[in-house]
Amino acid sequence: MRVKIIALAFICTLLLFAGKSNAQANDRNTRFFVKLPYLQDLRTTSTKILFQTRGECAAKIEYGTSADSLGKRVNSEANATFHNLLIEGLEADTRYYYRVTAGDEVSEVRSFQTLYVGNDPFEFLVYGDNRAESWVREGYFHQSHQRVCMSMLANAPDARFVLNMGDLVNSGVEEWRWDAEFFGPGEELFSRMCMFPTIGNHERNSDLYFQYFEVPGEDEHYYAFTYGDTRIITLDVHFTDFSVGSAQYEWYERELEASCGTYSWVFVTMHYPPLSSGGHGNNQPVLDSLIPLAEKYGVDVFWGGHDHNYERSYMNDIVYVTSGGGGAFCLPIAINANQNPWSELYYGNLHYCQVKVDGLKLLCDVKDVSGKLIDKWTIDKSEDRTVILPLSGETLLREEEPATESSREDF
Ligand SMILES: [Fe+2]
Repeated sequence: MRVKIIALAFICTLLLFAGKSNAQANDRNTRFFVKLPYLQDLRTTSTKILFQTRGECAAKIEYGTSADSLGKRVNSEANATFHNLLIEGLEADTRYYYRVTAGDEVSEVRSFQTLYVGNDPFEFLVYGDNRAESWVREGYFHQSHQRVCMSMLANAPDARFVLNMGDLVNSGVEEWRWDAEFFGPGEELFSRMCMFPTIGNHERNSDLYFQYFEVPGEDEHYYAFTYGDTRIITLDVHFTDFSVGSAQYEWYERELEASCGTYSWVFVTMHYPPLSSGGHGNNQPVLDSLIPLAEKYGVDVFWGGHDHNYERSYMNDIVYVTSGGGGAFCLPIAINANQNPWSELYYGNLHYCQVKVDGLKLLCDVKDVSGKLIDKWTIDKSEDRTVILPLSGETLLREEEPATESSREDF
C-alpha cells in the first residue's frame, strides 16, 4: 500500500511538472511577442533593442532613467514582424528602464546599464554551448539552458553583460530552434543584459544569426569592444580564415598591438578552445597561428566553448578557460586529458563563470546551476601573479611564481 502511495505521488509530481512545462510552451506559442525584447550592441551612449512579433505591426520603445518615468520614445519606421531599433544619446554608465509596445501587447519594464570607460569594478558572465541536441523536434523547449540563465540572473544580478562562447542552437538554419533553444530559455536574462556572441560551428553561418545579433565592427564574424579598462576581442575560428596572413589574423594582431599595454585586461574569446581535455581535444591550428601572438603581446585570458565541460588550463602566463556547459549534454570525463598537460581543473556538468574585474585584480567564480561554487581563481596583476584560490581550506592547485616583463617578451 505504501509503495502504491509513493508511486502515485511520484506520477502526480511528474504530471505537475509536465503541465508546467506545457503551460510555459503554450504561453510562448500564443503570445504576440515571439521573441521578447532583448539587448544587443550595447555601447557607452547607445543600445539596440530587438524583438519579433507574431504578425506585422508598428512598435515603440519608451525609456527613461526611472521605471515610472519612461518619457523618451523610439518608434519603428514600418510594419514588420522583426524589429531592430537603435536608442542613441544615452549617458555612459547609467541605468535605463524600457518597455516595448507592439500591436496591443506591452512588454514588462526592464532595465540595463550602459557601458563605461574607466576603472570602477564590474562583473560579467561567461557561458557557452547552450544548444540542444540534434534529435529534439519542434515543440521542444530547452529547459537546461533556461536553468543556467535563471541561475545567472539569481546569482549575478548586477553583471553588466554576458559573453556566450557559441553553439547557441543545434542548427542555425532551422528557425524554430532559435526560439526553442536560445531566445525562449534566455528571454529573462537577455532583456536585462546584453549578450555578446562568439559564433560557433552549429550556427552554420546562417543569415538568421546575423539578423538576430548586432555587434560592433564591419564583419560581424569577429569584433572587439571595451568595457571599463578591459578589451574583449572575439574571433571566428570556424567560418573565417584565421591562418597566418589572413585578414582576420592581421586584424587580430593590430588589435593585440593596440590593446595589450593600453588596457589593464585583454581577453580573447573563440568557440574552439586552444587547450582542451574534453571531447574535441586541443585545437592545433589555433595553437599554431593565434597563440604565438597572444603570448607575444600578453593576452590575459582565452575563453572558449565547443567542448561541453568547464576546464581551466594555464600555459605560458595565459589562463585558458573552456566554458561549454550552457545546456548541451556535458561530458563528465576528460577523455583527452593526455593532450592537455596544462589542465588544472576539469568539470563536466552545467555551469557558468561569474567574473569580477576590480582594477588590476580579476576574480572568477565558476558555479553550477544551483549556484554552488565549483572553481575559484584570480589573477592579481598588482602582484604580477596568478593565484588559484582554495575552495576547501587548501590552495587548490598552484600559486605562480611572479612573472617578469622579460619572461613575457621571450615567448
Ligand atoms: Fe561547437
